[in-house]
Amino acid sequence: MKSWLRSRPLRTALIYIVFGSLWILISDNVLDALIPHTSQTYIQAQTIKGWLFILFSALLLLSIMQSDMKALKKNEEELRKNEMKYRALFNQTHDAVFILDLQGYHLDANQRAAAMLGYTREELIGLKFSDISAEKEKSEIIFKQLLQGDQIPLYERIFKKKNGETIPVEVNVELVRDSHGMPFHIQSTIRDITERKKFEETLRRSEILFFKIFRSSPIGINIFRLSDGRSYNANDAFLELAGYPREELINHSAAELNLFVDTEIRNTWMASLKEGRRVVNQDARIRRKSGEIRNSLASLDIIEINGEAMILTIAVDITERKNAEAHIRTQLKRLSALNSIDRAISSSLNIQTALDILLGEVVSQLEVDSACILLFNNTSQVLENAASRGFSSPFIHQTSVRLGDELAGKVGRDRKVLHIPNLPELGNGYQRWELIKAEEFREYFGVPLIAKGQFKGVLEIFNRKPLHPDVEWLDYLETLGEQAAIAIESAQLFEGLQRSNQELTMAYDATIAGWSRAMDLRDKETEGHTKRVSNLTIKLAEFLGISPQEQIHIRRGALLHDIGKLGVPDYILHKPGKLTEEEWDIMRKHPTYAHDMLISINYLRPALDIPYCHHEKWDGSGYPRGLKGEDIPLSARIFAIVDVWDALRSDRPYRSGWSAQQTYKYIQTESGKHFDPKIVDVFLKMLDESPEWF
Ligand code: C2E
Ligand code: SIN
Ligand code: SIN
Ligand code: FE
Ligand code: FE
Repeated sequence: MKSWLRSRPLRTALIYIVFGSLWILISDNVLDALIPHTSQTYIQAQTIKGWLFILFSALLLLSIMQSDMKALKKNEEELRKNEMKYRALFNQTHDAVFILDLQGYHLDANQRAAAMLGYTREELIGLKFSDISAEKEKSEIIFKQLLQGDQIPLYERIFKKKNGETIPVEVNVELVRDSHGMPFHIQSTIRDITERKKFEETLRRSEILFFKIFRSSPIGINIFRLSDGRSYNANDAFLELAGYPREELINHSAAELNLFVDTEIRNTWMASLKEGRRVVNQDARIRRKSGEIRNSLASLDIIEINGEAMILTIAVDITERKNAEAHIRTQLKRLSALNSIDRAISSSLNIQTALDILLGEVVSQLEVDSACILLFNNTSQVLENAASRGFSSPFIHQTSVRLGDELAGKVGRDRKVLHIPNLPELGNGYQRWELIKAEEFREYFGVPLIAKGQFKGVLEIFNRKPLHPDVEWLDYLETLGEQAAIAIESAQLFEGLQRSNQELTMAYDATIAGWSRAMDLRDKETEGHTKRVSNLTIKLAEFLGISPQEQIHIRRGALLHDIGKLGVPDYILHKPGKLTEEEWDIMRKHPTYAHDMLISINYLRPALDIPYCHHEKWDGSGYPRGLKGEDIPLSARIFAIVDVWDALRSDRPYRSGWSAQQTYKYIQTESGKHFDPKIVDVFLKMLDESPEWF
């Protein structure tokens, strides 16, 4: 239908015109055909036709109006229903809805709007939009734009409630036009976004918090894209660790920067990450931009950021810790080296052994090529090589430096560490130039060895490459120097002690010899007996395979065997005839007297067995204790045979000396009774082989 036909009055008029025209056209022609139009009937018929026209028109109009009324009613009903529907929507919607006139005054507001702002609906109607806005100027600008026909996208605004409180809202505002397209009114839908704002704020705060943690964490964090390995973000600690400025690291991959020293290890990490396993606390060496290698402890995990898979790398720089560990290890090694040097010094009293051990530690702990120790000879005032290590030429053995001369002599004179960083610069003119040249030495340290204020020698260090010593190295060098001095000191002391001991021993032995001579002199008849039995006892001991150390004690014991007779009065000792029982009681005490006299002399204690036990008998019938068999000390069993042999061969005040054959036989018969049979066998065999004893 054409649009103008939709207008009901127009349509009604049109129908009426068509109806009227048809009526006039048809009715006049029918009347003309039936009735001549000059007759009286014609006039009457014309009148009836007129009335009929009125009647039919009325009927037509009535039916049109009736159908129109019906349609109108239906329309109204629908409108009412619609209105109710929209009203319900208007009132029930969760959002506040305002209808505003073109000046901005509220024409209507729903219940939600009233509840949201704390007004009644009636109060809201009549207020202007700017009355409920906490941002009036912004609201007015929007309103102007709206009236100009601009489309306004969703925006946020702060509204003011009746009680003055504010709420954040989201506004959807629209200009509503009438059917002619003219601005009619404004509709705005307002949503309370307090919760959303709160959530956003919380999120923002936690994001800020985490970002702050990320940025300021002392632990290095780098986030790589899994896809291309490029860095998405890294914190300052990581940049610091890697030594790159931010712009040179972000968006670059570790491979590009050659960041990981051990790429193979990193590949295995990537493989385990792809299998869903995290990498935790692994040693990772990181190459800084400068090329310096830092040790780090790294953990890797895959995380998702904005829907993209990333590798979160956390790395702590542990270089200092590693260095400290290595440092402690070195110190421990040095300490235990010092300890083993100490033990070497105290256990090996041989100066050579101690110095060799010490030099071994010097070379290995100080990591130098060569070291030697020159000892100072006080008499000749010359330093001579005493021990050396790490020299390949023989020149070191020719070292002989006067105090004050050359490098070592200077160290000795100044008693200070001497450091020569570049030996070749010294040039020729040194006696030890040959050594330096042959060994291609470059750096030198000379340490004076001083013990108890006395200069003992020089510890020398030689190295073929520059040493770059640190303070601790130098400290350790000096400590080793002190150790060397102590080693030399104690070795020299021991040598001295040995010498003085020897002197003392000699003095003691001279004393013993003097005593025994005095004893022999006391009984003129037995002169020389002591010396003879001592010599013969040693001879027999040698035959029996007794050690030289033990022989020393046996000799002393033999020399002193009858020292106890000093306690026996002359009248008994020199009695020409047999002893009475009382005299025997005294005579039998002479071994006990010897024991009591010698026990308090330390160095004679090991020699005591012979003086104390030389009258014990194998069968237990001897004195003073009646010991039996092998309970009798070996040295005493040996000696007893020799003593009786010599006593019988000698003249005594109470009888003359026996012949060798007689004595030989006597010893033989006493074997197993008075004497140890095994020793008797050896003794007699020895006599057989040495006729000079007869
Ligand atoms: P001595 O004279 O040096 O004798 C050492 C040991 O050689 C004696 O230990 C004894 O085992 C043996 N011996 C020495 N002379 C004889 C001997 O004539 N016959 C035999 N069978 N064995 C002899 P003994 O017997 O324990 O004597 C210890 C010491 O007592 C002797 O040392 C000597 O100084 C003294 N003595 C022993 N018998 C007499 C004695 O008849 N008159 C005197 N005046 N002194 C005697
Ligand atoms: C409204 O349309 O109700 C408010 C408009 C505004 O504050 O921007
Ligand atoms: C001695 O044996 O050395 C002297 C006295 C003796 O045995 O008769
Ligand atoms: Fe005796
Ligand atoms: Fe004797």
